[in-house]
This record gives sequence, C-alpha cells and structure tokens, in this order.
Amino acid sequence: MLKLASRMGRAKPSAIMVIAEKAKQLKAAGRDIVNFSIGVPNFLPGEHVYEAVREALKHDTGAYGSNRGREDLLDAFLAHMREIGLDGYKRSNVAVGIGAKQVLYNLCEALLDESDEIVFPTPYWTSYLDIAEILGAKITLLPCPSEQNYKLTPAQLDRALASKPKVFLFNNPSNPTGMVYTREEIAALAEVLVKHPDTWIITDDIYNRMVFDGVGYHNFVQFKPELRERTAIVDSLSKTYGMPGWRVGFVAAPELLANALVTLNSNHITNLPEIITAAGVAALTGSQEITKEKCAEFARRRDQVLDTLLSIPGVQCPRPQGAFYAFPDISVAFGKSHNGVIIDNDVDFCAALLESKGVACVPGSAFGEPRALRISYTCPRAQLEAGLQRFKQFFDELVEVEVERVSAAGR
Ligand SMILES: Cc1ncc(COP(=O)(O)O)c(C=O)c1O
Repeated sequence: MLKLASRMGRAKPSAIMVIAEKAKQLKAAGRDIVNFSIGVPNFLPGEHVYEAVREALKHDTGAYGSNRGREDLLDAFLAHMREIGLDGYKRSNVAVGIGAKQVLYNLCEALLDESDEIVFPTPYWTSYLDIAEILGAKITLLPCPSEQNYKLTPAQLDRALASKPKVFLFNNPSNPTGMVYTREEIAALAEVLVKHPDTWIITDDIYNRMVFDGVGYHNFVQFKPELRERTAIVDSLSKTYGMPGWRVGFVAAPELLANALVTLNSNHITNLPEIITAAGVAALTGSQEITKEKCAEFARRRDQVLDTLLSIPGVQCPRPQGAFYAFPDISVAFGKSHNGVIIDNDVDFCAALLESKGVACVPGSAFGEPRALRISYTCPRAQLEAGLQRFKQFFDELVEVEVERVSAAGR
C-alpha cells in the first residue's frame, strides 16, 4: 500500500481555518454572519505600496533572486528594527520567508531534531503546536491562565528551563490573548533567560507596531544583549501593513541561524518574488500613517469589546493591550443550555453561537485554553456592533439545565 510519511499523521489543518470555512459556507448559504474568527487586519496597504508594485512590473527581470532576500528589503527591515529599538543587526543576521509562519517553520526545522524539547506558554498561537508536532519535537506547555493575565512568570520560566529544552518560543504581543508584556516583565524574564545558556530563544513579535495604552514594545535582547547570540526575532508585514496574503516574513538572528534559514530557503522557496519584494520595501520605508491610524482604531475597538464582555455576569477578560484579539473566559456558560442545546465546553459554545446568532469565534481549545474563546475584532464597524450585541444576547438567553428540565416537564 502507498503511504505518506509518518509525520503527516501528526499534521492537521489549522483549527482557525476550519471555523473560518464554516462561517464562509453559512454566509454563502444566505445567513447573516459576523466573522470574529480569522485574524486578518481587514485593511489594505497604502497607495504607495501599489505604486511600487506597478513600478516594479515595468522593470521586472523574471530572474531568480537572493535566498536571503534582496538587499534593499533587508535594509528596510533593519531600519524598521532600529525604529522599534533593536539596534546592531546587520544584513548577515537577517533572512526573509514566505510570511512569519514559514520563518517559524524553518526556525523549528533548523533547531529541532526529533524528540528535542520545545517549551512555550499556553495560550499559544495554534501553529506553534502544529509545527512542533509535524517535526516530532517533545512539546512542553507552560499554562498561563487568565488568573495570571495569560502571562508567563519568571518562576515558571526558570522551572521550565531547568530541563535544558532546545527551544523556548515566546510571543509578544500575543495571539490569541492580545496581552502585551510590560518593560519590567520582559526585563524580569530576560534575567531568567541568561541563567539558562543551553536554550535557543524564538520571539514571535509580529504585532510589535500594534501596541496600545503606551505600554510599548520590548524584547529580551534590549535588556540582556548577550541573549542576541541565541535569540531569533520573527517579524512580518501581514498584520501591521494590511498585507497578510502578500506573504512577507523576516527573522533577525545570530549569523549561524540566519545562514541556516538562507540554506533552507535555497531548498524550499529560492526567493521572495521581485514584485512582492518591491511592495515590502515600500511598506517599510513609506508612510506609516495607515499603521498608526489602524492601531488607534484597534485600541478603540478593544475598549468597545471589553465593555461588552465585562458587562456579562461571570465573563472574565484580562485587558488586551495589543494586536486585535480579546480572549474572554466564558466558562460560566458551561453546563447551561441555549435553545435546548447543552453547552458543555468551548467547542459547543462556539458551535451554538454560530448556529443561533451567526457569530463566528474560535474555541479557546484551539489555543490550548478550553475555558476561553478568541474574538478577532477587525471586521467592519457595523458588524462589530451587531456581533457584540448578539454575543451578549446569547448569554442572556442561557438557562440553567435543571431549570430547563423542570419547565420542560411542566409543559
Ligand atoms: C502570533 C503569530 N505569529 C505568526 C503569524 C503568521 O503570520 P504570517 O502571515 O506572516 O505568516 C500569525 C498569524 O496569524 C500570528 O498571529
């Protein structure tokens, strides 16, 4: 019998895509659907990006390009790094990829042999688990529940690194929680990291320009420069420039690791397309106004989402300070019923919410936290309002299962 490689038995389609697909199908069938499920920024890049593409088309050579990335794109990324407070990197520290997802995959491929240990906090972005599973790594999850604001503590990190895992993977600002670590919190975690020199560090910082409330963006290497020798910083144009489908990702890392990614690129993708490279340069070097406006808009929406969530009795939601997600703990609904449907867990909750109210959210279990769900709040404003109202209404209509049984008996 013909067989796939055994690693494919561990590969599964992204849970987020499954929900987004279901919402799309319902919409196509004529249902009024509010989609809070997929993490897309929902705006388009500035005109200067399209202009750069048109210009690039005029000069297209059709040739293969650099495996590392074209020099003007590397320089534009290095300038962006300096602007966000990450100085001292050279072209030889950088490599591009087809989005941050591919960069993360390549980093894990470059660092993890089968059974090597990777540790990361829960809730996590779904692909971390999927990638580590495909590669056959030993995965250790560090639970960071809502009671600790979904944030990793220095003591937890210290304990986790005692076993000398090969890789520690960290995401800030966070998808799915929207949490942003403060300057002091990053400094305290960096103190722990220097005590554990046998572990590589990957920081996925792709939302670094989507931070609210003046918290700012920080990275471990700013506090402990010696960590640069084993830290890979991942970035992407997807969320900050409204370019998720354009697929531009970056890594800044020690040369050994950046060069490993260049080698993998030479085998996987060869190069970023020339047209996309031109768009990337324009996005990074052109006006940053759209990004700033959107960040301000997302901060206002965060307030609106949080106001609604916190007005629902029993729902908890640590205050997100970046990206465009909220991750409420909705476990107060478990054990209740809606229109006769019993809600036992987050998956039941999301299915009933989509079915009865046409609101699509991603169950928290997709991110390793089954008491919660993720709301991505970038949809058009009118839809956001309608979606939040329906979300609250859904809670108003929940009934205790016992009450329902009694009233059903009386009918
Ligand atoms: C935390 C995080 N990292 C990486 C990615 C992947 O980004 P890209 O579109 O650049 O592949 C996402 C996308 O949702 C994300 O939320």
